Amino acid sequence: MPAGRIKLSEYLSQQLAEHPSLHRDLGKLVLDLAKAVQEIALLISQGALAGVLGSLESQNVQGETQKKLDVLSDEILIQTLRSGSLVAGIASEENDEPITNPKGGSFLCLFDPLDGSSNIDVNVSVGTIFAIYEANQQRSPELPDYLQTGRKQIAAGYAIYGPATMLVFSLGNGTTGFTFEAASGEFILTHPKIQIPADTSEFAINTSNERFWEEPVSRYINECKKGKTDVRGRDFNMRWIASMVADVHRILMRGGIFMYPKDNKDPSKPGRLRLMYEANPMSFVVEQAGGLGSTGRQRILDIKPESIHQRIPVILGSKNEVERVEQYHREHDRA
Ligand code: F6P
Ligand code: MN
Repeated sequence: MPAGRIKLSEYLSQQLAEHPSLHRDLGKLVLDLAKAVQEIALLISQGALAGVLGSLESQNVQGETQKKLDVLSDEILIQTLRSGSLVAGIASEENDEPITNPKGGSFLCLFDPLDGSSNIDVNVSVGTIFAIYEANQQRSPELPDYLQTGRKQIAAGYAIYGPATMLVFSLGNGTTGFTFEAASGEFILTHPKIQIPADTSEFAINTSNERFWEEPVSRYINECKKGKTDVRGRDFNMRWIASMVADVHRILMRGGIFMYPKDNKDPSKPGRLRLMYEANPMSFVVEQAGGLGSTGRQRILDIKPESIHQRIPVILGSKNEVERVEQYHREHDRA
């Protein structure tokens, strides 16, 4: 890697040169996604001035009220991907059914167009999460083609629209971060080879759900809260931004554990977060940075998806902490 400023396009060319097993068109697809991210970032940065805040009358397939920016971000991504012939099929958290690109392509792209949308109207960081799989070259994509295990992702990542807009992704050879430079209109490499420390003293969970948690989760969080005075022997800090992208980004930057565990709040939902649009791509990025992604009982990237909008429990971040939570689940299930 040459010294000095490295643009996203240069980084992608270098990666393709260094790793012959990478699909030759993968770089072009990441650049297309970066273009869409730039458009979404511009809208978000204008906030109320662009008239994009607030909700619509509509609900998505999950029964959630859609924000204007959810729908606009979804449209920008779909339009960008459908204008080219790289992506054969698109699945989005905001759409009931996957969308086929009549022009075809080598990839399937799944995304959460605007993650953390409850934060839009209050000017707190939100994001876009994406997962890329190889498409079947013999025919246009059908539903089962999308239901691949997370291990099969050939790339995944997210954009965070925060004080700075960043693009963080992995092509399967580590996790890398780029910062958007408005003056040049370029994403510049700022975070090469991100590594999550194996140990942490920071946890992220929505504690208002505490009474609905399972015992292993309550045990882990109680021990963190007791800090120095109990088995952990050190104090813990808590953060909860309520944008998965922002919480996971913090963990990539300085370690931590993020949990949206199984709870019994609504028995029809085994978790809050979506396997295909949130859990899988974020686990991929986290594991490529030395962390771990688990449901508490199974590695997320090994789950065989059953449906495109499936929800699952998510526990990810610093390896030793995630393994500890898994151990508490095993002990609980054995007893
Ligand atoms: O997309 C779902 C999501 O908004 C995540 O980004 C976030 O981590 C979580 O839901 C917030 O959930 P809650 O509203 O329970 O804090
Ligand atoms: Mn989301």
